[in-house]
Amino acid sequence: MNVWVYDSDDKLNEAGAGIISGIVQTNPRAVLGLATGGTPVGIYKQLVGDFERGMFSFRGVTTFNLDEYVGLPENHPESYRAYMNEHLFRHIDLPSGQAHIPDGNAPDLEAECRRYDERIEDAGQLDLQLLGLGHNGHIGFNEPAHALIKGTHVVDLAEETRKANARFFPSLDEVPRQALTMGVGTILKSKTILLVVKGADKADIVRRALQGPITTDCPASLLQTHPHLVVLLDRAAAEKLS
Ligand code: F6R
Repeated sequence: MNVWVYDSDDKLNEAGAGIISGIVQTNPRAVLGLATGGTPVGIYKQLVGDFERGMFSFRGVTTFNLDEYVGLPENHPESYRAYMNEHLFRHIDLPSGQAHIPDGNAPDLEAECRRYDERIEDAGQLDLQLLGLGHNGHIGFNEPAHALIKGTHVVDLAEETRKANARFFPSLDEVPRQALTMGVGTILKSKTILLVVKGADKADIVRRALQGPITTDCPASLLQTHPHLVVLLDRAAAEKLS
């Protein structure tokens, strides 16, 4: 694993965007796994700036997002589809048919999960999976559990996750209780994993994830087994690493 620690948020975002754009520059048909949440916003902003400066094109790229809430209309400002449009998709030349997000409003959610896995399978292995980290160690919405699920599945969000995400909603009550998430099997099959974590409130879980025992109680700890894991941390998130 390669761990990089940054004093400046701008430098961290530049590094994250640089890793993603490097993959697209070397392989214009790259398959990218994308994340939402507060953490990658600056990376997407940097990526959009680099795209506008003509550094690369997303025309041949295919993307798969990690997750989507169940039951939020697609145009709800907090749906992950709306988030991706706002922060990335509407600014770049990625054809809309190549930007995949699981449909949290599908009439048959189980069938939707199978369809999503088939799409990923058809696209081939993910070249890169971008990840943030939940306070409880979740990646995607794979919450701590006795056993973890390989493929895309419906998940009951942990109370801790709903509370953390309540900052984006008018009230906790409005945070959905379920989501669709890519499974850890798919995440771990990605050729490269780029984990980005910011903030002192994540310092404990960063230590557990990167230096603690490998356990399904901390799904991110499974990343320790990945042959090509790159971790970008700000100084506060790295504080408790030995
Ligand atoms: C988002 C996702 C989540 C977040 C995590 C951290 O698509 O899958 O695992 O990465 O909850 O969220 P933030 O970045 O808001 O702290």
